[in-house]
Amino acid sequence: MYLYPKWIRVWHVLNAAAFLILIVTGLSMQYTDKENASYVVGFAKAVRWHNFAAFVLILNYIFFVTGNLLTNNGRFYRISRKGFVLNLKKQFKFYSMGMFKGEKHPFPVTEERKFNPLQKITYVLAMYVAMPLLIISGIGLLLPEITITTIFGISGLVLTDVFHITMGFFLSIFMIIHIYTCTLGSRPTSLFRGIITGYHVSEDE
Ligand code: HEM
Repeated sequence: MYLYPKWIRVWHVLNAAAFLILIVTGLSMQYTDKENASYVVGFAKAVRWHNFAAFVLILNYIFFVTGNLLTNNGRFYRISRKGFVLNLKKQFKFYSMGMFKGEKHPFPVTEERKFNPLQKITYVLAMYVAMPLLIISGIGLLLPEITITTIFGISGLVLTDVFHITMGFFLSIFMIIHIYTCTLGSRPTSLFRGIITGYHVSEDE
């Protein structure tokens, strides 16, 4: 099944690369201090690379949203209320028990259903909630003159910073779980192959 068009593959590889650079340089900036002058990457270099990767991530994010608006891929991100909780429970039960007993996937991939319910909700939360918040708070830190000076007596910049780090943390956790769940296809490598070649190999093939 051809499920990952070329544009989504290009978006994904750029997104993953930018993300990895952002994590390394973000952690470097956070943990660099006077005694620890260069944590993984030197501070000045970390700032430069963080800004560059963020620029790539933002342009690429606009490309992702536009692509999903203009092509059929957007339909995979639409959540239906019908059976929402029940389907999530079924998928969760499969990940926590069923798969260890060799049961079949409760929501096998089809041309019409690329993502299982748990995958869909986490992708929607990551791409349409956490990413915009990460980007907006990042722009707030890059351009402190546009950031609110104080909120309830607390520095707006400090709050924006904490918020940005929290979103970065959530998305990093998302990425780790995402990579793990991507090993749960018909073979541990088949989903990775899919996002590179464009073709998904189902359980029965
Ligand atoms: C090195 C890091 C990463 C690896 C190895 C990886 C791996 C994969 C694989 C194998 C797939 C195809 C399986 C599927 O459809 O779920 C996929 C899809 C996807 N990944 Fe990643 N990923 C990485 C980073 C990220 C990051 C950082 C994000 C977002 C912040 C992300 C968001 C997505 C989304 C939204 C899809 C579905 C795209 C679509 O078909 O519409 N990934 N990823």
